[in-house]
Amino acid sequence: METLRSIVLLVHLVGFATIFGSWLVEVANRRVQVTRLMQWGLALSLIAGLALSAPWGTDADFNYLKIGIKLVILLVIGGLLGVLGARQKRGAQIAPAMFWAVGIMTLANAAIAVIW
Ligand code: HEM
Repeated sequence: METLRSIVLLVHLVGFATIFGSWLVEVANRRVQVTRLMQWGLALSLIAGLALSAPWGTDADFNYLKIGIKLVILLVIGGLLGVLGARQKRGAQIAPAMFWAVGIMTLANAAIAVIW
C-alpha cells in the first residue's frame, strides 16, 4: 500500500512538472500562450492529489486546510487555463498577467506543499 501511495505521489509530481515545465517553455520562447500539455498536467495533479487526500497507505495526519487551499488554487489555475484557451481559439490576444498567474500559482502550490 505504501509503495502504491509513493507511485501516486510520483504521478502527482509528474503532473506538477508537466504544468510548470510546459509553462516555462512558453516563457523561454517569449510566447504568451497556454498549451494542451498544461491542461493535461493540471488534470493529472488533480486526480492524483485527490487520491492522496484520502488516508490510505500512511499513518500521517492530514492537514486538510492546506489541501483545501491547494485545491482552490488548482481550480483557479484551471479556470485561467479554460478562459485563456478559449480566447486563444478565437484568435484573441491573452493578457500577460493571466499567463504569468498560471505559472506563479502553480509554483505557489508546490511551495505550499513542500514548505507548509
Ligand atoms: C498545481 C497543483 C498542485 C501542485 C503544484 C502540487 C504539488 C505538490 C507537491 C510538490 C507535493 C509533494 C510534497 C512533499 O512530498 O513534500 C504534493 C503533495 C501532496 N498534494 Fe499536491 N499539488 C497540487 C495540487 C493538489 C491538489 C488539488 C490536491 C488535493 C485536492 C493535492 C494533494 C496533495 C497531497 C495530499 C499531498 C501529500 C502526499 C503525501 O505526502 O502522502 N495537491 N503536492
